[in-house]
Amino acid sequence: MTQQGFTLWLTGLSGAGKTTVAVALEKEFQQRGLLIERLDGDTVREGLTRDLGFSKEDRDKNIERVSFVARLLSRNRVGVVASFISPYREARAKVRELTTNFIEVYVNAPLEVCAARDVKGLYAKAFAGQIQGFTGVNDPYEAPENPEIVLHTDLETLEQSVGKIIDYLESHHLIPALEVEKAS
Ligand code: ADX
Repeated sequence: MTQQGFTLWLTGLSGAGKTTVAVALEKEFQQRGLLIERLDGDTVREGLTRDLGFSKEDRDKNIERVSFVARLLSRNRVGVVASFISPYREARAKVRELTTNFIEVYVNAPLEVCAARDVKGLYAKAFAGQIQGFTGVNDPYEAPENPEIVLHTDLETLEQSVGKIIDYLESHHLIPALEVEKAS
């Protein structure tokens, strides 16, 4: 079989591990010779959505523009790996409607864990009141109700998290399963 287009949508709090999982997936897909495009909040916000902030309206616009790109790619047999906080259920539901083979992946790590990791130092600032409207601290995050995949990045290794996604894609015939080498 050849690969199908799909939209793997990684949603979760800042610091939950979305980008880490996406980068590892990208590497795995490239090793398998699959067509893959990674769209990430931090980088997309330096270009396509540079003009947007973090109000609900701006976050919705951010996701709307990304979904446009994901739609074009996924309908042309490219595997899209999108990692955005995307805190609003309704915005994510729209992406599901627009894109091909949408798979919602809830990258779930408790707020305390994300805040303790504080990779970018943003939680400390948010708790100190220096950033307003920071997701999970003083802005909402609407957790997925029916995600296709849930990752617990505080309890699983990166390999286990990536493995769950690969297994899903293989079992749903979206990517070819790796041939098991015959022992002889
Ligand atoms: S989304 O809500 O519109 O989906 P997106 O994933 O693109 O957000 O960007 C989130 C990233 O922006 C975070 O990882 C963080 O580095 C940065 N950021 C800056 N301000 C905020 C904020 N108020 N809330 C959340 N993330 C913020």
